[in-house]
Amino acid sequence: MENVILTEKKEGLMTITINRPEKLNALNASVLQSLQEALHELQSDASLRGCIITGAGEKAFVAGADVTEFMKADRQIGKELAELGQQLFLTIERSPKPIIAAVNGYALGGGCELALACHFRIASDTARFGQPEVNLGIIPGYGGSQRLTRLIGKGRAMEWMMTGESYDAQEAWRIGLVNHVCPAAELQSFTEAKMRMIISKSKIALAQIIKATNASEAGVDEGMKSEAACFGVAFASDDMQEGVKAFIEKRKPQFQ
Ligand code: COA
Repeated sequence: MENVILTEKKEGLMTITINRPEKLNALNASVLQSLQEALHELQSDASLRGCIITGAGEKAFVAGADVTEFMKADRQIGKELAELGQQLFLTIERSPKPIIAAVNGYALGGGCELALACHFRIASDTARFGQPEVNLGIIPGYGGSQRLTRLIGKGRAMEWMMTGESYDAQEAWRIGLVNHVCPAAELQSFTEAKMRMIISKSKIALAQIIKATNASEAGVDEGMKSEAACFGVAFASDDMQEGVKAFIEKRKPQFQ
């Protein structure tokens, strides 16, 4: 059977490629299962420091959940499908190792939600984003209504979801959904360079940045509590000793 997910490991960096280009990398049950396994490998392999998620082919990152699996439906099946996708995407959002989306084309529906679950997004100038579920009589179910709202604001998120319209990479950049837009041919090298820079830092500090930043969603009091606890973890680390020592000695730090 064809591998619906390709994984590559290179010098501490894992690249996960959703690999159904003929179906614009739509997320079927098999992709979700393989993605879960790949994410488990990312956490369990201590040599891996960070991950890039992208799509195979030139046309799509992920054009949504696989609509052909939607025919057999009732309320309970729908709820369980959403819960499954939500859990998987929470694994991405809560990963202690940084995960960047390299959005190489259509990121629609569940594809936009997948990108939103990553720690941040870099897009090719050919990328298109949107939540077209309303056109099928449904709504985003893999965390989109929550993450899109937080990232681009309630009014814009409502418009995106209510109209089902899609938006180009420049617009996604303008409203803060993606951090960078680059020519399609440079997306991979640009994203890899960014990730290599990040994973050269202290892995303890990176994990605590992710945890504290995610905690902002629980409200100011909880967020501050989490930030202080995360700061404590980083403060007690050997990497902190090394970072400060290197600064004083005017050299590059050698983090563990
Ligand atoms: N689920 C299942 N199959 C999908 C899919 C999805 N979300 N998105 C695309 N495909 C399939 C198409 O059915 C087609 O398969 P076929 O060649 O066997 O007919 C193939 O991928 C290529 O897509 P096609 O529609 O022919 O490409 P296009 O360039 O004309 O249009 C899109 C591209 C993205 C605009 C269009 O595919 C689309 O609207 N997809 C659905 C997006 C969506 O609603 N996502 C949210 C789902 S909840």
